[in-house]
Amino acid sequence: MSYAIVGFGKVGQALAHAFARKNINVTVASRRPPEELAPQARAIGPTVITKSLRDALEAETIILAVPFGEHRKVAKALPSWKGKTVIDAMNAFVPSEDVDGLVSSAFVAKSFSGAKLVKGFNHLPAANLAADPIVEGGHRVVFLSSDDEDAIAPVAELAKRLGFAPVNLGKLNEGGALVQARDRVWGPLIFQDLFKEKQ
Ligand SMILES: NC(=O)c1ccc[n+]([C@@H]2O[C@H](COP(=O)([O-])OP(=O)(O)OC[C@H]3O[C@@H](n4cnc5c(N)ncnc54)[C@H](OP(=O)(O)O)[C@@H]3O)[C@@H](O)[C@H]2O)c1
Repeated sequence: MSYAIVGFGKVGQALAHAFARKNINVTVASRRPPEELAPQARAIGPTVITKSLRDALEAETIILAVPFGEHRKVAKALPSWKGKTVIDAMNAFVPSEDVDGLVSSAFVAKSFSGAKLVKGFNHLPAANLAADPIVEGGHRVVFLSSDDEDAIAPVAELAKRLGFAPVNLGKLNEGGALVQARDRVWGPLIFQDLFKEKQ
């Protein structure tokens, strides 16, 4: 399986650290030319390879680590997404109407027609994603959800190889809805009642 991370900011670099820690090859790309990203990639580790966006999209599995509003531009960079797995690590701090009232990853999936889309790695702050996921003998959890039944297992396998403990939350509009941003709040379905209780 080949992997690429699109977006080489806080989350892209954090995930690159996770790949480098386990000596797993990963391509990284952004809008900037690869040579501009290369010093940072080298500093993270030798398995982190910079490519142009178009070349990075040759990978079988592509992790989206760009600002939410940019995902459509990434989608347009490839004529067909058939056969690809797309991991949506983005959070959409936008009003519900901007995502047609859908869970954000279902909205993203519309742009990556033909790909298998898995939501994951989005709930951890970049600093935690970058750090060793083995904490006090336990493995840091990552939540995965997808509308494609076959898509989660290989992403769960990747998460395990990176040292995380994957938790399958099921479909996007069920478990996935718990671990997303909505209307500028992260995880409102989990936290809103807690906040109400405190008030
Ligand atoms: N920061 C966190 O702790 C955190 C945690 C979990 C999830 N997230 C989510 O992860 C995503 C990225 O957040 P971030 O904090 O890493 O943002 P960031 O530091 O601003 O990095 C964004 C990256 O995306 C690249 N980029 C922007 N538009 C692009 C495009 N059209 N094509 C290719 N690359 C593009 C930028 O590089 P160029 O300017 O060179 O293109 C940059 O490397 C967001 O959706 C955020 O909600 C963030």
